[in-house]
Amino acid sequence: MNADGPEGSSPVKALLTRRSVGALVEPAPSERELDLILDVGLRAPDHGRLRPWRFVLIRGEARKAFGELLVDAAKARDRRVPAALLERYRIWPLQCPLLIAVGAAIRPAHPVPEGEQFMSAAAAAMNMLNAIHVLGYGGMWVTGANTYDPRVNTALGFNAPSRLVGLLAVGTPRAAAPPPERPNRAAHVAEWSPPAR
Ligand SMILES: Cc1cc2nc3c(=O)[nH]c(=O)nc-3n(C[C@H](O)[C@H](O)[C@H](O)COP(=O)(O)O)c2cc1C
Repeated sequence: MNADGPEGSSPVKALLTRRSVGALVEPAPSERELDLILDVGLRAPDHGRLRPWRFVLIRGEARKAFGELLVDAAKARDRRVPAALLERYRIWPLQCPLLIAVGAAIRPAHPVPEGEQFMSAAAAAMNMLNAIHVLGYGGMWVTGANTYDPRVNTALGFNAPSRLVGLLAVGTPRAAAPPPERPNRAAHVAEWSPPAR
């Protein structure tokens, strides 16, 4: 145990205090900070050194076109989609100082199962969320119908079986938030013991 007490060193405390932040304002991380965040993403574990991680940055003016892409995809899925939902899709990217689309470039028929390749990209997303938090910014992992939509996937460079694991909304938290609630550890952890013979 080190001098920081039972919760360990400050990196562990940082992990314990991460929380998702959906209400974001400018600024986004600087270029230097963004490079660090992306490099932390590239430290995700990866079976077979396939490096399936792909990150697509959506920022600045491109966010407007991305919003229109979400609207067009939603309309193509359902011609009767409510106007209010379309408007949400249209403006949401503009409310995020930066979006990082995280996906997996899947190698089909590889000995490393596709699911593991996908999980590695998900681990990269998690690594980046932690880095975003450690650097003092806010982030949130978002999926939903648009991220499962082949039109959106293709527009971002993910052609099946490659696919998105989600979008990371990144920026500065609009307001300070209390520390996150911690799940009851006992409800999630068990000790395995071999069955009696
Ligand atoms: C794969 C994945 C997809 C998610 N998609 C959404 C989403 O589309 N919309 C949403 O509100 N929260 C979504 N969440 C949940 C938030 O990212 C966040 O984890 C949740 O609000 C809990 O907050 P916390 O991370 O502070 O515990 C998703 C989480 C994961 C892991």
